Amino acid sequence: MARLGSQAKAGFYPTPESIRGQLKELLDIEEDARILDPCCGEGQTLAALADGTGAITYGIELDHDRATEARQRIHHLLWGDALVEMRISPGAFGLLYLNPPYDYSLEPEAQAQRLEVLFLRRFQETLYKDGWLVLVVPYTVLVACASVLARHFSGLQVYAFPEEEFHTFHQCLVIGRKRSLVTKAKAAHMEQELNCIAGMTPEIFLATAPQLASCTERLIIPAPKHPCTFRCSRIDPREAIPLVRKSGLLADLLTHDLAPGQCHSIRPLAPLKNGHLALMLAGGYMNGEIEMAGHRLVIKGVVHKTEKIHSIAENNSGDTMVTTRDLYQPTVKAIDMAKAEMLIIR
Ligand SMILES: C[S@@+](CC[C@H](N)C(=O)[O-])C[C@H]1O[C@@H](n2cnc3c(N)ncnc32)[C@H](O)[C@@H]1O
Repeated sequence: MARLGSQAKAGFYPTPESIRGQLKELLDIEEDARILDPCCGEGQTLAALADGTGAITYGIELDHDRATEARQRIHHLLWGDALVEMRISPGAFGLLYLNPPYDYSLEPEAQAQRLEVLFLRRFQETLYKDGWLVLVVPYTVLVACASVLARHFSGLQVYAFPEEEFHTFHQCLVIGRKRSLVTKAKAAHMEQELNCIAGMTPEIFLATAPQLASCTERLIIPAPKHPCTFRCSRIDPREAIPLVRKSGLLADLLTHDLAPGQCHSIRPLAPLKNGHLALMLAGGYMNGEIEMAGHRLVIKGVVHKTEKIHSIAENNSGDTMVTTRDLYQPTVKAIDMAKAEMLIIR
């Protein structure tokens, strides 16, 4: 079921309306609180959770059409790959609503990882201490998520989807509270419990796991004290090209800014290999406009700096200390000027 079904819809299976409604009943969101959905689809779920609260909604969506639709409903919407293209302040959000694609990453089979755990690992750090996680995944995937959940969250509760919604993807909702540090012993105990739930048959899980309607927890989401960064390195060409054309910038860009510098004449001693060409592209030596199979492409090589969380610790006064490392990623971007599409190669 899950793999073929989910791939057919390109991973889009919005949270059922009945569950949105039940979840909203549990939320107590302060005005200006920030809530994040890094796989927001068309944005209905995030908008429904925030409705009438004065919360500020932040969404990310990979599919361009769904992102365009979501932009109508979400205050801050980024179109792009939430796992690699975003620059988001750690500790900035009070609620993380995460209903990721139920699938494996694209690496060769042996190294492929569940996407659910990659999203959880990446986005748990965006919650501030005591912020709330609501994770929606097939319950069997808890085995892959158990260690991240147990290390970073306390008070974890697993709820089953109602029977009429359960059978397609066997989903559960996991609700937990962000902690900067959970003791090893508590984490090991919780990990074992989650693994045990993940190993149940669907019938036993459905019969034993509580329903969301029975949850008595209030999820209080206060407004944050600090500003936050929420940016994507991807440019939406459908928005950018008309603006650039109108401004007349394109002509200058092609003749001056993107054209290789005069001193860049290269005379290689041996024929160039693909690796050399890739480095030259990413280094900007081949920037400019080219014609390929009847398409006009504008090419630009860039090197992106990203940050990776190295460690999170709590100091004596209870503040969270986040240590990050800089990573540099060469990227080639090509804009197809006729179709207004962008191709990104990393
Ligand atoms: C399960 S749906 C969730 C929709 C919405 N959050 C909800 O619960 O109603 C997952 C969404 O994640 C999007 N998605 C898949 N991979 C993504 C990625 N790498 N970055 C951002 N969004 C992604 C899919 O296009 C799809 O719309």
